[in-house]
Amino acid sequence: MSAIRNSLVLLVLASAMSPSWLIISANGNVLPLFIKWHVYIVNGLSNNMTLFIHCQSSDNDMGNHNLSPAANFSWSFRTNFFHSTVFSCYIRKDDAQATFKVFWQDPVLFERCKWKNCIWIAKYDGIYIRDFQNEQDEFAILKK
Ligand SMILES: *[C@@H]1O[C@H](CO)[C@@H](O)[C@H](O)[C@H]1NC(C)=O
Ligand SMILES: *[C@@H]1O[C@H](CO)[C@@H](O)[C@H](O)[C@H]1NC(C)=O
Repeated sequence: MSAIRNSLVLLVLASAMSPSWLIISANGNVLPLFIKWHVYIVNGLSNNMTLFIHCQSSDNDMGNHNLSPAANFSWSFRTNFFHSTVFSCYIRKDDAQATFKVFWQDPVLFERCKWKNCIWIAKYDGIYIRDFQNEQDEFAILKK
């Protein structure tokens, strides 16, 4: 969704009805400001496998973590004014690894996350994101 990220912010306006602000981007998407987001990385591997994870943005390094089976690592943040917040994670299990974005400016992603919780789950065959709308885990990234 680099089109969204790169699009010119035309207008910032404060709504009289609510304390939150909206940014209207050039392509007409309306993105609320100052939402508090929670990102979770879940070890959904079977076979008692540990998941190594390292997540970061350009400003924040969340450190190295070894997740035991069914454990998760999570953090919270608020989107910045310019809507440039991007978090990515490197994850590794014994026979596979991947680097992927877990948070970026994308209304489709925000819908998945129900505007609050982005839950990524590493399973045996790939990486899934919890789709709150359809109440299922949606396949996102194939195991390499
Ligand atoms: C999972 O791993 C732990 C630590 O290595 C071990 O104590 C436990 O017995 C294992 N459980 C299963 C079901 O293999
Ligand atoms: C993350 O772990 C906590 C503590 O075990 C648990 O309460 C919570 O439900 C877990 N969240 C997810 C999304 O797995």
